Amino acid sequence: MKRREFLTTGATGIAGMSLASPMILGDSIVGANDKIVLALIGCGGRGLSCIVNCCKINKNVVIKTVCDVNRTKLSNAAKTVERQLGKKPTTTEDMKTIFNDKDVTAVWIATPEHWHVPASILACQTGKDVYVEKNLSVNIWESRKLVEAAAKYKRIVQVGLQNRSAPQGFSAREYLKSGKLGKIVTVKTYFMLGGGKFTEAPEQPIPAWLDWDKWLGPAPYRPFSPSIVSEHGRGDWQYYWDYSGGLLDDEASHTIDLTRMVLGDPPHPKSVYAWGGNYAYGSKSETPEFQSVVYDFGNFTLTADGGRAFKYMYKAPQSIRNDATKFPNWRNYSARVEIYGTEGLMYLGRHGGGWQVLGKDDKIVAEDSAVFPDNEHQKNFIECIRSRKQPNGGIEQCHQSSTLINMGNIACRVGNKQLLFDGQTEKFTNDDQANILAKGTYRKGYEIPNEI
Ligand SMILES: NC(=O)c1ccc[n+]([C@@H]2O[C@H](COP(=O)([O-])OP(=O)(O)OC[C@H]3O[C@@H](n4cnc5c(N)ncnc54)[C@H](O)[C@@H]3O)[C@@H](O)[C@H]2O)c1
Repeated sequence: MKRREFLTTGATGIAGMSLASPMILGDSIVGANDKIVLALIGCGGRGLSCIVNCCKINKNVVIKTVCDVNRTKLSNAAKTVERQLGKKPTTTEDMKTIFNDKDVTAVWIATPEHWHVPASILACQTGKDVYVEKNLSVNIWESRKLVEAAAKYKRIVQVGLQNRSAPQGFSAREYLKSGKLGKIVTVKTYFMLGGGKFTEAPEQPIPAWLDWDKWLGPAPYRPFSPSIVSEHGRGDWQYYWDYSGGLLDDEASHTIDLTRMVLGDPPHPKSVYAWGGNYAYGSKSETPEFQSVVYDFGNFTLTADGGRAFKYMYKAPQSIRNDATKFPNWRNYSARVEIYGTEGLMYLGRHGGGWQVLGKDDKIVAEDSAVFPDNEHQKNFIECIRSRKQPNGGIEQCHQSSTLINMGNIACRVGNKQLLFDGQTEKFTNDDQANILAKGTYRKGYEIPNEI
């Protein structure tokens, strides 16, 4: 194994690290039998369970450090790792410690969305490979910067859109490519979840268990509210534009990305129209209770409809996710995709639900299924760290999928409008305010420069 050489800088920027200046001098080559040392940034339910599972299903992969700004979750995460894997990791409240640690091969970023890209860029600049959770970005510009950073610093960046590693996704893509569904005319995706009215709790003093300033990071400063962050659970940060893109970002990011993959990853659409609002319960959330989005791809349309007002719909239960022979009841499956070709209709599920094609007379003419693809995705990440091949959840395509999510939200935020999009420049051509949102803003000290 060729050791990496590092420069630790005293420059300013995110967490005292500069996004503007490269810090890696060498490149890592991890041999097939070398130990891969991971570190977790963001010890919520998702990150912790995935990184532990990744160590269990791959050989010679260990966790050295866990990092969180929530001290309760940090200490619990260290105990969980020790219980599950037999060795207690070191802990830190500052991701800079991990970026400066030359032993760490790769970081697992499972923070809320506003930290995904800034942390990933720093990881690339300090020579770490990256697994970063969906939705990749909170605006269009920043995930393009991550594409540039991954290329410049020659990093493996796997985005946590695990359906990119799903065997049933690959077979659906082959089926469409074969032409058996005919010409694709329209595609409908759904994210019809249950929920209720959201009311924001009054602001409170910052609790002792939290470094609120670091949690906010690149987002604008605001007083602490227990509605946003919770000590043990997730909190409701997804109802705020500064930290997330609502349910389109949380849920539809999976179905939309899977759809792009099975369609053969079409380039950006020509326009987006989106409508959204809090008309079901009258919540005080910034992100809408319900959204309807239409993307115009020139020769077909893609829609995304959903929100949190549908308690009678359901996600695929574990019995379907873990059984390669079972399909969901498509009618009330909350995360279904419907691909309408001239010769048939393909139903596609995102939780290991597989796909079925309906022909004439209500007949199933083709189908395939497999289990929930987390294991495949985590194995693929480790294989790519060793082989330096592009991972399944590669950054360019996941940036493009994430762009659809950001486009849908921006079209709602500028007043439920149709926005025209130039795929070359990744800018809107008929709305200045939309372009301001597409670029985003960053708190002083956390800016991402144009030159990565
Ligand atoms: N791929 C999937 O199927 C899937 C499933 C669930 C969640 N997710 C994604 O995973 C991410 C995490 O989800 P979750 O449910 O675990 O959320 P969570 O809010 O429970 O966990 C996020 C953690 O990040 C920590 N954090 C925030 N800022 C930090 C910083 N600067 N440094 C270190 N830690 C910081 C928070 O304190 C929190 O503990 C989200 O982006 C979510 O969308 C993906």
